[in-house]
This record gives sequence, C-alpha cells and structure tokens, in this order.
Amino acid sequence: MRRQRAENSKWRRGLAELCGYLPRGMYGLEIGSLAGESADMFVKLAGFDALFCVDPWEKTSTRDDTGESGFDAVAARHPEIIKCKGYLQDFYRSMPPLDFIYIDAKHQHVETFELIFQSLLLAKEPCLLAGHDYNERKHPGLVRAVNTIFAGHLQDVIRFVDWSFLVGIRRHRGGIETYKPRLREIAT
Ligand SMILES: C[S@@+](CC[C@H](N)C(=O)[O-])C[C@H]1O[C@@H](n2cnc3c(N)ncnc32)[C@H](O)[C@@H]1O
Repeated sequence: MRRQRAENSKWRRGLAELCGYLPRGMYGLEIGSLAGESADMFVKLAGFDALFCVDPWEKTSTRDDTGESGFDAVAARHPEIIKCKGYLQDFYRSMPPLDFIYIDAKHQHVETFELIFQSLLLAKEPCLLAGHDYNERKHPGLVRAVNTIFAGHLQDVIRFVDWSFLVGIRRHRGGIETYKPRLREIAT
C-alpha cells in the first residue's frame, strides 16, 4: 500500500507512540496485515517474541493487489512474524494466549464488533487491545462499535495521531474491566 507522504509520517508517528506502550517480549496478533507495513513497524519498534499476522490476502472487487508478496518480503526479514493466511477462527487452536491484539481489517460496525470479541477469546490476562482508523468522519461504524463496547470507560482508551487506539483489558469479578495502559508496562 502506498501511503501519501504527509499521511505516512503521521501514521509512523502514531504507531511509534503506540509502540511506546508495549513491553518487550510479547506475543502479539495483527488482524489485517496487507503488505506488512504495520507489522514491520511493530517488530522493529516493540520487540515481539512472536507477532501472528492474520489476513486472507484475497483479491476484492476494488483491489487487485492483495499485498501478499510485500508481506512475504517483510516476514522473510523478521522470523518473529508468523504468517497466518485465512481468518482468525482458522487459527484459534494454534495460537498461544496473546499479550497484544491490533485490529486493522474491516472497518464496518458489525465486523469490528465481531473481530474485537473473537480476538478477546485469545487474550492473555492482562492484554492490550488496539486498532486502527478510530476516525469518526471516515469510519463511523468502527467508532460506534468501539464506543459501545467500552461505553463508560472511554477515558481508558488512548488515541494516537494516526487514528490508532489502545486500551488495557483485564479480568474483574468474572467479567472484564478496562484500564489505561502506561508507557512500557512490565510484561507478565
Ligand atoms: C487496511 S489493510 C491493513 C493494513 C496494514 N495493517 C498496514 O497498516 O500496513 C486491511 C487488511 O485487512 C484484511 N482483512 C479484511 N478482513 C479481514 C478479516 N476478517 N480477518 C483478517 N484480515 C482481514 C484485508 O485482506 C486487508 O489486507
């Protein structure tokens, strides 16, 4: 994916700031990797033990280039990137509990709901949940889904200049509660 220059620098700054909250040595999951640009940033800046990248890399009516060859080139440089071609459900059994989840796939309301709940089934305790395109003007459905899931706790959701968001999740009294992540938490 070719990002325009100004947008690219904002995107890099936002992701770099987000990575400042990620402890080293995590097991992470990225849902939606395309050509591997964000995966590349994550492994360079955050230092994962493993980053599972799930994407079907399928052609769509509006996109001919799936980005898969670009992703493969990135993955070849970083052995900690684990390519998972398909959908999250295909990998439930083969993935370990996750410290970090980053969602950048479908940006509609229902799909965002589903991906957040599906991925939280794999979350370690505690876990950092993040996503891209928390942008009311461009992706109102995604924002509505995030705001509904974290209603009453939006003060714990950190937003970044590239429209990424980040929130901490931990168990509480048989359910889950959110917390505001701190810079460079200690890995558990
Ligand atoms: C916006 S792009 C990802 C960009 C990438 N994170 C980056 O910043 O370099 C969206 C990607 O999500 C993938 N995708 C769409 N629905 C998905 C799903 N349910 N699970 C996994 N990936 C999905 C698409 O194939 C596409 O490659």
